Amino acid sequence: MKQVSKIQSVVKIRKEAKKTGRIGFVPTMGAFHEGHLSLMRKAAAECDFVVVSLFVNPLQFGQKEDLTSYPRTLSKDRKKAASVGVDLLWTPTEAALYPDGFQTTIELGEISRCWEGASRPGHFQGVATIVAKLLQIVRPDRLYLGQKDYQQVCVIRRMITDLHFETNVRALPIMREKDGLAMSSRNRRLSADERAVAPILHQALRQAEKQVRHGERNAVTILQAVTETLKSIQRMTVEYVALCDPSSLEALDRLEKEGVLLVAVQLGPVRLIDNVLLKEKG
Ligand code: PAF
Repeated sequence: MKQVSKIQSVVKIRKEAKKTGRIGFVPTMGAFHEGHLSLMRKAAAECDFVVVSLFVNPLQFGQKEDLTSYPRTLSKDRKKAASVGVDLLWTPTEAALYPDGFQTTIELGEISRCWEGASRPGHFQGVATIVAKLLQIVRPDRLYLGQKDYQQVCVIRRMITDLHFETNVRALPIMREKDGLAMSSRNRRLSADERAVAPILHQALRQAEKQVRHGERNAVTILQAVTETLKSIQRMTVEYVALCDPSSLEALDRLEKEGVLLVAVQLGPVRLIDNVLLKEKG
């Protein structure tokens, strides 16, 4: 596996790689866990050349958010990426991606304003802008994203369609710890007590799946049950619980065919999100 930081090096290497096959791309902010590695493995299985970018993007963090405390574990990340078949690890600098005078960003529509977008103003604009820049440089055939950031996948899909990027999005399932907690680089910042109660998110989602299996279709009833479960943990602050259309993310009154249940909570210093796709049948 090669590691480079310069944009020009990536452009040159990807041009060569493109001659012999399909390029897969996994954009990341580092602190790799099994969720990231599952994306890299899939990319390696489906593509001839795999590029992983590692860049903690300041543009997607709000003023009060955890940019400085975001985990940075480059040497471990490098070993992990090499072990799952990544060909190129790209670690760009902030100065290269946001040079003096930088002022062009992606303006997003409705899909970016609800849920995570409402809780974290400017977040998706930062995500979309960096992803657009990375796609422009790597020009991958396939882009690999994790379903844990469900709304992020929707926003990026929308941008790719609207701006005619020539890449296929592959969204892969959430990877979970044994006790159900969705894997996230932020989990390591939970105290032992917080970590012990964190799996309640997944339990609440599973409870909703069960309700649906037993015939419940009313959004209010489903959301109330999830909210009550989460609120049973004193130190947990519920930010939102939403049942929405899986593509537009508009809130649903009733579950018809399919819906996605999204949750976000604050637990100690960490914001946790999780989701599950609910289907009328199965
Ligand atoms: O999901 C992430 O880690 C980031 O939002 C992404 C897509 C790498 C953009 O910085």
